[in-house]
Amino acid sequence: MSDVEKTEFHIAGAEPAAKKPAQDPAVNPSAQPGEKDAEKGLRPKSLDEFIGQPKVRSQLDLVLSGARNRGVTPDHVLLSGPPGLGKTTMAMIIAQELGTSLRMTSGPALERAGDLAAMLSNLMEGDVLFIDEIHRIARPAEEMLYMAMEDFRIDVIVGKGPGATSIPLELPPFTLVAATTRSGMLTGPLRDRFGFTAQMEFYDVEDLTKVVTRAARILDVGIDLDAAMEIASRSRGTPRIANRLLRRVRDFAEVHSDGYVDLAAARGALEVFDVDEAGLDRLDRAVLDALIRGHGGGPVGVSTLAIAVGEEPSTVEEVCEPYLVRAGMIARTGRGRIATAAAWEHLGLEPPEGTLGLLKI
Ligand SMILES: Nc1ncnc2c1ncn2[C@@H]1O[C@H](COP(=O)(O)OP(=O)(O)O)[C@@H](O)[C@H]1O
Ligand SMILES: [Mg+2]
Repeated sequence: MSDVEKTEFHIAGAEPAAKKPAQDPAVNPSAQPGEKDAEKGLRPKSLDEFIGQPKVRSQLDLVLSGARNRGVTPDHVLLSGPPGLGKTTMAMIIAQELGTSLRMTSGPALERAGDLAAMLSNLMEGDVLFIDEIHRIARPAEEMLYMAMEDFRIDVIVGKGPGATSIPLELPPFTLVAATTRSGMLTGPLRDRFGFTAQMEFYDVEDLTKVVTRAARILDVGIDLDAAMEIASRSRGTPRIANRLLRRVRDFAEVHSDGYVDLAAARGALEVFDVDEAGLDRLDRAVLDALIRGHGGGPVGVSTLAIAVGEEPSTVEEVCEPYLVRAGMIARTGRGRIATAAAWEHLGLEPPEGTLGLLKI
């Protein structure tokens, strides 16, 4: 097996239906239509090539080499974290490192237990089954998955009504790698069946600078280090956005000069995309604005915020909030979201007395 990407295939309905984003697609951490090919060439192919996430990498390395040494299939792996941080890439790397093939599907594509049974019965010994967005798997499929994960066995129901019989089907040992942007939505029994859970974190500017320079090398784009850092610092801690901004900056440089990306070209292009110095995009700022100007800093429920910015609550929760929390601008409490002093200051406003994070003098 030299190239896991060759085994990638798509199932109708595996991609969530595209809806019109209020957010500029340049900084939306989800893959945009037509972006698949551009991303494919930039995916690291081995654990060593994978930049950042040192904890996840070293733990996975242990899990994989342990299994390899013992000649068994590794524990099932759950990759959790916001979009664009490298979950799909990591799933492909796991198959690559194990020298096996990767079968891909996604939670929304597994509507009926039969969909999953078809997937499982095609597995070969040692294969990696990747289920993206596993929190959206339908209940009957989830229940079938329990037994498949634990005992490598499923019961296939044949026939209908009183005459229906269940036929046990042995499965070859396989490794399930699942990804989720919402690990909190997983049921306890499902979560308990993963031997290893990797929480992917946002990347710091140093690591993202490496992501940008690596991608520039692959795309054959000349770039200065300070330009790469500028792109990195405005990528919301997300490699997918860093790679996308690099491609846009390159296009800008090709139009405006000889295609070489220096700091001026990077800044000129980034201005167009409306990502500010803190790495916040328009939707992030709209959320802060609704929270602070609309609701005095909170606490406000996430659905109220979503309505105010004209987005789905899941987008606000899975895309905006993780980054705003990590940037120290909002806090999640039992009563709702609260803006911190840093958020007030980011909007150029004076935080009122008693604001979270305000230094007491
Ligand atoms: N650690 C990394 N180093 C280099 N590039 C990365 C890394 N993680 C992600 N990428 C790039 O970001 C893009 C999105 O990654 P992906 O694995 O699809 O994210 P997710 O599945 O978490 O949404 C990929 O094209 C990949 O090239
Ligand atoms: Mg993915």
